[in-house]
Amino acid sequence: MTSTSITASATTPALPKPSYADIQSIVADDFEIMDKQVFGSLNSKVQLVMNVSQHVINAGGKRMRPLITLLCARMLHDRPSEQAMHLAAITEMLHTATLVHDDVIDKSGQRRGKPTANATWDNATAVLVGDYLIARAFNLLVGFQSLPLLQLFSDGTCDIAEGEVLQLQHQHNPQATEDDYLRIIDGKTSRLFMMATQGAAILQDQTQYLPALADFGQHFGNAFQIIDDVLDYSGDSEMMGKNLGDDLAEGKPTLPTIKALELLKSSDNSGYDQLRIAVQTGKTPNAEQLIALVRNSGSLAYCTQRALEETRLAQQALSILPDNRYRQGLYQLTELASSRLI
Ligand code: IPE
Ligand code: IPE
Ligand code: MG
Ligand code: MG
Repeated sequence: MTSTSITASATTPALPKPSYADIQSIVADDFEIMDKQVFGSLNSKVQLVMNVSQHVINAGGKRMRPLITLLCARMLHDRPSEQAMHLAAITEMLHTATLVHDDVIDKSGQRRGKPTANATWDNATAVLVGDYLIARAFNLLVGFQSLPLLQLFSDGTCDIAEGEVLQLQHQHNPQATEDDYLRIIDGKTSRLFMMATQGAAILQDQTQYLPALADFGQHFGNAFQIIDDVLDYSGDSEMMGKNLGDDLAEGKPTLPTIKALELLKSSDNSGYDQLRIAVQTGKTPNAEQLIALVRNSGSLAYCTQRALEETRLAQQALSILPDNRYRQGLYQLTELASSRLI
């Protein structure tokens, strides 16, 4: 893949494609402490809360949002920051809560290669423990005694919840547009990426970078979600550790479906009707045929293009940030995410 002038400067020559572990190793010590804090921050006096939270957190996950916070914090001020590690752990806690809730909404049975909380216990337990994780994250945030940080995280958490509700409103709506979809993912996914990046700038007292970090987080988040939605049609369930094909089975109009409907409408009436009815009813007895319909419609190529555009925009946003190995790590993370498509 060609890289833009952002990495092609004299100080940051293009490197061979690094792995996730390579990027993680840029902030290895910070990452290790952060990871311990994700576990250590759970302190409920109710054993069931501990069991459910630990079940999801122990299952793994890439810890990508905290990695973003750690890289941003070091990029803006290269010294070990306990506060940045702590904020990164809080970001992961919020992320985990959204996944626990999302799996209830999506009726998903598998997450991070393990049975979901809703499948292991039940919906009510999963919702309540997800609530606990959000509450606990805010409990820990208060400790920073930073109103700007609380403002960022409380606004952001409202937007995440709104994004999920918007998505619910569009469930079974074959008329949903790309704009509708962008509004949904902006809330449910990209907002947390923005919190992960902007939170670091607030902590490091480098607020002049807030707009660029917002741009980076938003476009990277958009790219990441589009890629995830494409992989729901074309990925490998075992590799991703979650059930795929769920989106269509739930009548969720993600970008691959929205674009497929648009393309089929003008080229294949019967295909269009089949897909439209599947979205409307969420009934997919012929799931494989429907997935093939989406794959063959040209929609996934369009989505890939859109994800790459969002990736480029994220990378452009990096160009005004301090040029160092941490910025390069952020750049590499965007490349790695989009390489899942190619
Ligand atoms: C899953 O996020 C939810 C989406 C926004 C698509 P990740 O793919 O980062 O999930 P984990 O944390 O690694 O399990
Ligand atoms: C992302 O949506 C979930 C959140 C941002 C909360 P998805 O429903 O696509 O995520 P997966 O595919 O279940 O991980
Ligand atoms: Mg889901
Ligand atoms: Mg998904």
